[in-house]
Amino acid sequence: MKIIGTGSALPKKVVTNDMLTEFFDTSDEWIRTRTGIETRRIMTDESLLDLAITASRNAIEAAGLKAEDLDYIICSNVNNNYVYPSLSCMVQGAIGATCPCFDVRIACAGFVYAMDIAESFLTTGRAGKILVLAAEEPTRFCHWKQRETSVLFGDGAAAAVVEAGNEYMGARMTTISNTEVLYQRNRLEPTPFEVEGVYVDHPMVMLGREVFRMAVSNCSAEINHLLKSKGYQVSDVKYFILHQANMRIIKGIQQYLEGTDEQFPTTVQKYGNTSSASIPILLDELVRDNKIARGDLIVMSGFGSGFTTGSLLMKY
Ligand code: UT7
Repeated sequence: MKIIGTGSALPKKVVTNDMLTEFFDTSDEWIRTRTGIETRRIMTDESLLDLAITASRNAIEAAGLKAEDLDYIICSNVNNNYVYPSLSCMVQGAIGATCPCFDVRIACAGFVYAMDIAESFLTTGRAGKILVLAAEEPTRFCHWKQRETSVLFGDGAAAAVVEAGNEYMGARMTTISNTEVLYQRNRLEPTPFEVEGVYVDHPMVMLGREVFRMAVSNCSAEINHLLKSKGYQVSDVKYFILHQANMRIIKGIQQYLEGTDEQFPTTVQKYGNTSSASIPILLDELVRDNKIARGDLIVMSGFGSGFTTGSLLMKY
């Protein structure tokens, strides 16, 4: 696999921590010190589909391709206004692609899993050019009366176009079933047969401290394992492009791996936690700012609800 183009799209509305004090008993100081977040982008008149389309078009253009050149679209998305069809189907039609497409729902680690699936499609010759997209609106999973979760998230979309190449060097995916630490229950239509209380919808539930602990320990261990198994050291890696959940989680992983600040770029301060879109948003920002060069070794690593982790080692 080789990345040949990236693109991203964010909502235009910038929401500061101070703006959130209008809705909850919180403060800029609490949010900054606990999470590192200063602002986030939240959708107003845009839809997630709008962002997904723009991010996809930007990535396809950066790759020097047309939508009809794509052989597959794989989209990471936790949830959106439609249960079906999948978001990738809507994007496919809107951008003028004709290839098959599907969504994966692996929460914050979704983009890394989607890239790993893309790699296997390329290796087996099932596809030549794949759009790997992540589009998320986690601000709409929270109950906007709960300060513990609502201050953490932002919306966004980003994509990478990949083709066959020799830049993929390995990946490690894990799932440790621990479904109570971070979940949301969908609303389903009641049937006349259901027993009351069995199916209950609920906005996001998160045991913050447990998620924090699992994120730092699991992600650090997985990255370490991946690098060792491929014969690399932390110092060989130009960038660790981590899921942007919380500055303290990122710093915890950096400390465990004994990496430098330069190796751990961040966008969480600007965009909050955009779920699986955070890794490709950061990747696209590094590309657009000319901070990453062809051949640079990168690790992309995501973690989240499941509890699931995914880490991928490749050259840009
Ligand atoms: O993609 C993965 C998604 N999840 C995450 O990344 C979450 C990982 N966890 C975290 O980042 C942290 O656990 C949080 C930032 C969510 C919370 O930080 P914490 O240091 O673990 O705080 P806490 O939950 O233990 O709460 C400490 C206090 C509590 O008050 P009391 O009981 O000490 O009086 C909370 O009620 O902070 C209070 N609190 C708030 N105060 C102001 C919780 N949320 C807020 C808030 N503003 N937004």
